[in-house]
Amino acid sequence: MDLSRQSSIILSITILTTFASFVKSSLPQGLQTLNISSEITTDPNITASFATDFGNLFNRTPGAVFLPSSPNDIATLIRFSYTSSTPFHISQRGLGHSAYGQTLVPDGILIDMSSLDRTNYSRINVTNGPIPYADVGAEQIWIDVLNATLKHDLMPRVLTDYLSLTVGGTLSNAGLSGRAFMHGPQISNVYELDVITGTGEIVTCSRESNSDLFYAVLGGLGQFGVITRARIALEPAQKRVRWLELFYTDIKVLTSDEEKLISTGNSLSGIIDYLEGEVLFSVTQGSLTAFKALWHGSD
Ligand SMILES: Cc1cc2nc3c(=O)[nH]c(=O)nc-3n(C[C@H](O)[C@H](O)[C@H](O)COP(=O)(O)OP(=O)(O)OC[C@H]3O[C@@H](n4cnc5c(N)ncnc54)[C@H](O)[C@@H]3O)c2cc1C
Ligand SMILES: *[C@@H]1O[C@H](CO)[C@@H](O)[C@H](O)[C@H]1NC(C)=O
Ligand SMILES: *[C@@H]1O[C@H](CO)[C@@H](O)[C@H](O)[C@H]1NC(C)=O
Ligand SMILES: *[C@@H]1O[C@H](CO)[C@@H](O)[C@H](O)[C@H]1NC(C)=O
Ligand SMILES: *[C@@H]1O[C@H](CO)[C@@H](O)[C@H](O)[C@H]1NC(C)=O
Ligand SMILES: *[C@@H]1O[C@H](CO)[C@@H](O)[C@H](O)[C@H]1NC(C)=O
Repeated sequence: MDLSRQSSIILSITILTTFASFVKSSLPQGLQTLNISSEITTDPNITASFATDFGNLFNRTPGAVFLPSSPNDIATLIRFSYTSSTPFHISQRGLGHSAYGQTLVPDGILIDMSSLDRTNYSRINVTNGPIPYADVGAEQIWIDVLNATLKHDLMPRVLTDYLSLTVGGTLSNAGLSGRAFMHGPQISNVYELDVITGTGEIVTCSRESNSDLFYAVLGGLGQFGVITRARIALEPAQKRVRWLELFYTDIKVLTSDEEKLISTGNSLSGIIDYLEGEVLFSVTQGSLTAFKALWHGSD
């Protein structure tokens, strides 16, 4: 497959967002004739609310915001741009927890992935069996995925610490937490994706099928297509944990101990299943108490 051609439209977005100034263009010609036109808004009150992200370093209002009701609608928009004589820029946003303007698209159309029905939990389908997995809409957030899988005594193999991030957003980055030392980041724990490519095709990809696309999209910052569904690896959820906290005064000793544990891979499974380090500045009895309260609840 000619991946570079398929991704050319989306690829140009991030390059463009590195410019500080932009020319606000009117909506591309012909867009009103599409059946998705009612889902595209130029209402300044709405576009303004998509002009920044968590980092709040840039303010770049999109030309329009697209509120798709299905993956097919996204494909319709991208196909329209791809086949147009004047293609336009498209970006996609999970919940905008990016810190450096990665979702912003000043003269283009921003796809608000949440409108694929983020609060409809029928978009999280859990399959139990010898290799359990969940098929999840990319707009879903991890806390809801965890909630749905726990009902089957299962959980995603690797989560993020903060769980109100979208599946599509973290799979476009890496997805890290205390399970990554054993299983790698979230992007190493995905079986399959549905992706809308830069030509507007909906393609299912995995390690075995359309693998170029699969590996490009995972950790690809949205530059190689729009993820609409991910098949996430699950494992049995433990009912109880033992929690051990070790305080270090020397960072070299801490990182060397951590590296030792990372290098053991799976062999400590059942003994150490979750590993994280934190740095505490100017530790006093008060800050230590606050730290413990944050992690354990006050005790
Ligand atoms: C408070 C906070 C806590 C965090 N904690 C963690 C953590 O514990 N572990 C961790 O790994 N990360 C963490 N992050 C970082 C997080 O992974 C990134 O912020 C990431 O951007 C996810 O946020 P989002 O879901 O809102 O995605 P967005 O910021 O909206 O999007 C992220 C990128 O992915 C693209 N994108 C979004 N959806 C799709 C899609 N469906 N298909 C293709 N591309 C898409 C966007 O264009 C953008 O480039 C944290 C961030 C914050 C603000
Ligand atoms: C935008 O918000 C302002 C203030 O709340 C309101 O007066 C205005 O009517 C809104 N504009 C649109 C297009 O909804
Ligand atoms: C628009 O048309 C496509 C088929 O071309 C269809 O799949 C999609 O559901 C339609 N969307 C709306 C909002 O009607
Ligand atoms: C929720 O999603 C399911 C599966 O996609 C769909 O069949 C159902 O109509 C949706 N429910 C609502 C209330 O939109
Ligand atoms: C979940 O299953 C329903 C019913 O079979 C289906 O309509 C929906 O598309 C599935 N959702 C995902 C994200 O796979
Ligand atoms: C988990 O889902 C149930 C409904 O099935 C809901 O009542 C509960 O609030 C959810 N919990 C969280 C943390 O979202």
